[in-house]
Amino acid sequence: MNKIAEIYRAGYVGGAVQETLDWIEEKSTDAKRIIVPFTGIGRHIVAVQRADTEIYSWDTMAYSRYIVDGVFNAEKAESNVTEIRYRKGWMYEHRTYKNIDDRCAGFIDWVAQEGTLFDKAALGSAMTRSTLMGRLTHWKSNVEQLYTRFEKQREYNQDWLNQPGTRLHVEGDFFADLEALQGGEPCDLAIIDPPKVVNYSDVYSLHFNHFNQCLTNGQASRLPKWNRRNAMTYMRDAVTKIPASTMLFFYVNKVIPTYEDVKRVLGQYVEIEEEQEFYHNGRSDFALLLHKDLP
Ligand SMILES: C[S@@+](CC[C@H](N)C(=O)[O-])C[C@H]1O[C@@H](n2cnc3c(N)ncnc32)[C@H](O)[C@@H]1O
Repeated sequence: MNKIAEIYRAGYVGGAVQETLDWIEEKSTDAKRIIVPFTGIGRHIVAVQRADTEIYSWDTMAYSRYIVDGVFNAEKAESNVTEIRYRKGWMYEHRTYKNIDDRCAGFIDWVAQEGTLFDKAALGSAMTRSTLMGRLTHWKSNVEQLYTRFEKQREYNQDWLNQPGTRLHVEGDFFADLEALQGGEPCDLAIIDPPKVVNYSDVYSLHFNHFNQCLTNGQASRLPKWNRRNAMTYMRDAVTKIPASTMLFFYVNKVIPTYEDVKRVLGQYVEIEEEQEFYHNGRSDFALLLHKDLP
């Protein structure tokens, strides 16, 4: 039976194919303690969670915490937003989207300051969908359209409350906790879906820094930057140091370092037990099942 009847949707760039999620589900049937170092909007969390799973997750973006704690972990929908209200806050000051008007900026600032985690999860999605092609660069909406998207996502998220099992999420840098994790009890599985470097940087640190600042009203610290020089080291460290003998690792083509290079380097440290390729919008998604013996 296919457990994942639906993919969690939040207007985020980069889709996930159903086959990928089915494959994750198949490979995780026996895993109870699971590490997800890079949460994003939590689609991989949704794919592995069951009544008996404990999922430990991280992400430097506040949006991930709003989704995991404000939606998946929430018992009920708590909202402070009853109408369009305005505040002059971080977005009003900085206008990081091309063409954003006073009212949209003011509404974003009001929700970022007064909204619940559940509200801010809906705001993140509504903001993404209010930019051209969801790319978080050019704004394309008026405040009524933004508010309609906000209300729609708030309603949609109600179907994702109270997810099965336990989730412990950290808003912060996974690598900062890696050493402490190594000293603890090992997990059964790790699901590693790292940022991908396109040209000179990953999209998260490129466009998501200001997204993160808007949602937190300027309270967030800067996102870690992944680039051509450090990406391989980050990925190698995650794979070699994570205390889990089984790992699912995700990569794509047309990025730097190339999939072939990543596979070759990881293969020097861990065993590649299975390789999958999923086609998706003219792009290939690769998935590796990795094994290593724990000390
Ligand atoms: C490819 S996305 C993960 C998508 C995810 N699989 C999903 O289901 O939506 C990579 C994520 O890693 C996060 N990230 C980047 N560097 C990080 C770090 N050092 N610690 C924790 N998260 C990080 C980014 O913010 C981004 O959300």
